[in-house]
Amino acid sequence: MDHIRILTTGRGIASRTVTNDDLSKVVDTSDDWIYPRTGIHSRQICGEGESVCTLAEEAVGKALEKGKTRFGIREEDIGCVVGATISGATATPSLSCLVQQALHLPEQIPVLDVNAACSGFVYALEVARGLLCANGKRYGLVFGAEALSRLLDWQDRTTCILFADGAGAALIERVPEKEVPYGSFLAARGGTEIVCGGVNTEDPHIRMDGKAVFRFAVTVIPVAAEGALSLAGVPADAISHVICHQANARILGHVMRKSTIPREKFFQNISTAGNTSAASIPSALAQMEEEGLLKEGDLLLLVGFGSGLTYAGMVIGYGRKEAEDEKAE
Ligand code: COA
Repeated sequence: MDHIRILTTGRGIASRTVTNDDLSKVVDTSDDWIYPRTGIHSRQICGEGESVCTLAEEAVGKALEKGKTRFGIREEDIGCVVGATISGATATPSLSCLVQQALHLPEQIPVLDVNAACSGFVYALEVARGLLCANGKRYGLVFGAEALSRLLDWQDRTTCILFADGAGAALIERVPEKEVPYGSFLAARGGTEIVCGGVNTEDPHIRMDGKAVFRFAVTVIPVAAEGALSLAGVPADAISHVICHQANARILGHVMRKSTIPREKFFQNISTAGNTSAASIPSALAQMEEEGLLKEGDLLLLVGFGSGLTYAGMVIGYGRKEAEDEKAE
């Protein structure tokens, strides 16, 4: 089966900044409590006229625009659109179909959302790979977008301090196996430690058993990372950057202490992004691209974990290495 790599990225940032001090005016909390336990100073949430749709459109539109400029890829070259979200604006149509409409993407291609919570973007990449291998098209658009502020109980200090809004996207390319390593490890352990929209109640809000989630996360992150490395057949030192789901700086700190991968390879933006679930990994990637941290030929390790309880690891290449090599010649 062919592999995929990421060619370009984009992100949509919600415009309203909410600091820990702002939250302390709404619920009984403080920066002194939140920052040491989560690493979060502030987060972005949707302002006037913004929604999960506008954020997703912005992120996917930017990834596509960069694809046009850098690689000459056009709308009609796109072979699938796979979005990851737990906070789509409507149960149906899918968020992906709304993005397809807004960006005038082709009709005769598969367009769908996946729900794997904070592992959603990694799941969506693997789904997109399967679709491109099946329909023979070369390029796909994959995104994660959330407006979690809509699903929060703003009186619940155990959740409203963590979650936020945002979107990130990637333009991917299907490539022959030998061209670039790829490994995808997807898993789930059915559980209700994080729920939203009660099964037996009318509660529409996100609820969480924070301590159980913490234990789950630190257990499965190494499993997902090692699973992906092993399936890709590459050693840990081949990895240029690790992009873990930005859930909590303490979880990341714990993982970094135990990992053989040097901590400077772990990207972190939790302090200003908060936890944006499926949007967290792709918007981190887009931020890294904007900051010039990603280089053609980089090998990335993505790790997601969250409600479901899902977890996922992926080794995936960034950019066209040969494009750099050609320039050097
Ligand atoms: N501000 C002030 N006090 C708070 C608070 C807040 N925002 N939230 C909870 N508290 C209080 C609790 O009421 C409790 O008080 P009590 O001892 O009087 O009952 C105390 O702080 C400790 O609460 P606890 O839930 O045990 O805190 P914790 O040390 O487990 O930290 C989390 C809470 C959420 C920071 C931590 O469990 C965590 O990081 N979990 C992982 C969450 C996560 O990443 N979720 C997303 C995964 S995708």
